[in-house]
Amino acid sequence: MRHSVRYFGLIPAAGMGARMGSAAGPKQYLMLGSKTMLEHSIQAMLGDARIDRLFVIVAQSDARWQQIRAGDERVEFLPVGGATRAESVRNGLMAVAGRYDDNDRVLVHDAARPCLSGSELARLIDEAGADDDGGLLAVPLADTLKRGEEGRAGITLDRTGLWCAQTPQLFRFASLRAALATGSLADITDESSAMERAGHTPRLVPGGSANLKVTTPGDLVLATAILAAQRRL
Ligand code: C5P
Repeated sequence: MRHSVRYFGLIPAAGMGARMGSAAGPKQYLMLGSKTMLEHSIQAMLGDARIDRLFVIVAQSDARWQQIRAGDERVEFLPVGGATRAESVRNGLMAVAGRYDDNDRVLVHDAARPCLSGSELARLIDEAGADDDGGLLAVPLADTLKRGEEGRAGITLDRTGLWCAQTPQLFRFASLRAALATGSLADITDESSAMERAGHTPRLVPGGSANLKVTTPGDLVLATAILAAQRRL
């Protein structure tokens, strides 16, 4: 019987990136230097030797992933993407169900966060790996929050205790599978929200603002500058 817990990564990369407005196709295939955004995100997740395998979830209709050279035998592409991010993650977890034990840990990371650093990934595993409620990288909200009403600031919201959720998010395999298997996925924009709904309290592990999610063309410029500063371009 095996006693040690295994860690594996899962990157949902089946989105179309509509907010990017790019004619070049899904945003995970946009170039940042000499590599696609997806390749940078894959490299970032392989940065910790504790990750024993990395599954990349792509859309059934996607043929471009076959040109990706991950250069690491831990990487496996699964063409089981769904209509939403949460569906893609759920489908990916179902596809690997027989290969991992309930107690193993899965780390879900957006393809759209290519600037994740090795130290952030290691910190998440160190601080949340043994926690049955799991955890996620997150940063305390720095800006003042307004509720917009017809283009005007209607009210200022209290930001005390508010955090911005990032990825990776790390959970016990069976717990995340169960959390995504029950209830609607309509409002689920990250794995932590599904876990919270199921009664878990994931640990907030402080991350950094450089681990931004690339959503708009302006973010692409920022991400390129960050990768250059990290000497990863
Ligand atoms: O579009 P957004 O930035 O919220 O997407 C977050 C991540 O979820 C991206 O890596 C994207 O490729 C992925 N995704 C997915 N399946 C979908 C929609 C998004 O895997 N149907």
